[in-house]
Amino acid sequence: MDAINHEDRFEEKLTAGEFIEPKDWMPEIYRKHLIRQISQHAHSEVVGMLPEGNWITRAPSLRAKLVLLAKVQDEGGHGLYLYTAAESLGISRDELLDNLLTGKAKYSSIFNYPTLTWADIGAIGWLVDGAAIMNQVMLQRTSYGPYSRAMIRICKEESFHQRQGYEIMMRMAFGAPEQKAMAQDAMNRWWYPTLMMFGPPDRESPNSENAIKWRIKRETNDQLRQRFVNQTVRQAEYLGLTIPDAKLKWNEEKQGYDFSEPDWVEFKSVIQGNGPCNRDRLAARNKAHKEGAWVREAAAEYSKKTAAVNAA
Ligand code: 3HC
Repeated sequence: MDAINHEDRFEEKLTAGEFIEPKDWMPEIYRKHLIRQISQHAHSEVVGMLPEGNWITRAPSLRAKLVLLAKVQDEGGHGLYLYTAAESLGISRDELLDNLLTGKAKYSSIFNYPTLTWADIGAIGWLVDGAAIMNQVMLQRTSYGPYSRAMIRICKEESFHQRQGYEIMMRMAFGAPEQKAMAQDAMNRWWYPTLMMFGPPDRESPNSENAIKWRIKRETNDQLRQRFVNQTVRQAEYLGLTIPDAKLKWNEEKQGYDFSEPDWVEFKSVIQGNGPCNRDRLAARNKAHKEGAWVREAAAEYSKKTAAVNAA
């Protein structure tokens, strides 16, 4: 089949809502777009383990520790699914990890903020995983087969993540006044960084046009952000927590809340590496990678040996 037919076939599959699979012909620019997005998604999962991992040894009860441990382990597994999906596009794991460890690749800005109190762990589960779910449920319908299948798998676990965070926030919001104050403080600090997770406003999103055209994204950054706000306001009201936005107001006409946008100057600064924890996160990932070298060598040696035995 020549390139012109390949293009037609690619477009036909997209229009028919069929998956593009690793062995299918795809435009180089589509492949590169997917590697960029899927790898940064994977990096986000792995770096996201750090702020929460900080609190495993300080969880207020054995149950809370077990639940948080399970959640952090899940995030590592999500990273694995996504690195594997990225590798199906022809990039090696080593190159993917090198892009993260050298700071060449992005990961979600949200993980460059510190987790100062136990309420932050509740806010991350409730707000951050809540935002991630909103985005990832949409990505279950993405046009690239391996990415969609990874999303379906991941979304099953994300709802547990959000529930565990909301449970922490309920315990604190309905607890002692000091606990409620701690929950409100976490709400204040995590609200706008969470809104940034959906990406810059559509008017400033260089990748969204292609992402929508190629059905990688099925909704835009602003549409998902709006849906997240509409859903979260009611949850905050139930907790008796105040969303730190004086502009927040129900708009009957648009059937959604009017709300203040995050500080996009702060957003740009954080994704350029100047957030409160960027340096710590990258240092922690590089340290873990260095300390894990022996595991990778042993696994490589083992697979070489078993391959030799199987070949004999
Ligand atoms: N943090 C860091 N970088 C961001 C960002 C964020 N919150 N939002 C956007 N960016 C970057 C984009 O990567 C892009 O830079 P690049 O071209 O160098 O990659 C630039 O800002 C412009 O943004 P666009 O909107 O044009 O880019 P996209 O079309 O890629 O949209 C996105 C950004 C919505 C994050 C999209 O990439 C996406 O949906 N990614 C998959 C979901 C994801 O990565 N989620 C991260 C959180 S995962 C998580 O939270 C784990 C959970 O278990 C806790």
